Amino acid sequence: MGRDVLRIEDLVVHYETMAGPVKAVNHVSFSIGEGEIFGLAGESGCGKTTIALSIMKLLPYNGKILSGRILLGDVDVVLLTEEEMMEVRWKKVSMVFQGAMNALNPVLRVGDQIAEVLVEKEGWSKERALERAKELFSLVGIDPSRVYDYPHEFSGGMRQRAIIAMALVLNPQLVIADEPVTALDVVVQSKILDLLKRLRDELGISVMMITHDLSVIAETSDRVGIMYAGRLVEHARAEDLFGEPAHPYTKALINAFPSIVGERKRFEAIRGDPPNLLNPPPGCPFHPRCPYAMDVCREKVPKLVKVGEEHEAACFLIGGA
Ligand SMILES: Nc1ncnc2c1ncn2[C@@H]1O[C@H](COP(=O)(O)OP(=O)(O)O)[C@@H](O)[C@H]1O
Ligand SMILES: [Mg+2]
Repeated sequence: MGRDVLRIEDLVVHYETMAGPVKAVNHVSFSIGEGEIFGLAGESGCGKTTIALSIMKLLPYNGKILSGRILLGDVDVVLLTEEEMMEVRWKKVSMVFQGAMNALNPVLRVGDQIAEVLVEKEGWSKERALERAKELFSLVGIDPSRVYDYPHEFSGGMRQRAIIAMALVLNPQLVIADEPVTALDVVVQSKILDLLKRLRDELGISVMMITHDLSVIAETSDRVGIMYAGRLVEHARAEDLFGEPAHPYTKALINAFPSIVGERKRFEAIRGDPPNLLNPPPGCPFHPRCPYAMDVCREKVPKLVKVGEEHEAACFLIGGA
């Protein structure tokens, strides 16, 4: 792997609400290398999308980055103005939004929706922009003549390919894909995941793959971060995470997706629910659901400690206090 394309350091993000602050992201750090697919996984509500929107500086009005750094190369996007962000967003980092394939404008041709970005942001002529849209269609495996189609003439898989093409329009180094295959059936899912891997290979881009589904991570990712209640509780190379998971939450998640490990096991849902981030429990946020919880887990937040090469987990069973 080359240098880091993205480095997040000690990021804290809250949402202000009438009931108080929702502590969506708590002291999260990780990095993504050049040409790497980094999977960010965890149950719904653990802060994955909030991290993505923080990188893009597209948090909703009540979302606030309280501390930490988000380095894209040498630039800390946390410090950039909205005007400066215009030179970063889509050009250095772009995002495939959760559910975007269902949000294409139904009355505009798909090719025009891609070309529009180049016409409006870059001042290209309509003709040149449409040529670029055709090129991008070939790249993502859609016949270029289909740029003249409307969204309803596309299958779900083709719409998702078009959305991915749109994310590539200004040649970003990093593409964030937020639940890119969640709404698709399994066969189409694996074609879209193959596409993202091929784009990584052909364009050398890095991908941040956000999903609640560990089988998506297993199929695509070089390295993985596991989130729980706004915290990164484990990170490792994918083979080490699946081979030797260290955190009880990671183990429980893997058990909840029996197909990953091959042999047929009984599906074991994780007991209980993730905590409400308005009032997370004291100590380790996983302790109320953890079968191994000890006294210390109810009192102190465990720090990430090394459990192997490029492998860390935050759990008192492993050590650290
Ligand atoms: N605009 C918002 N206002 C208040 N709370 C929010 C807002 N957006 C998300 N949240 C809360 O922040 C937490 C993290 O959400 P999110 O980042 O969307 O998680 P994920 O993508 O992992 O499902 C959740 O508790 C969610 O309810
Ligand atoms: Mg999300």
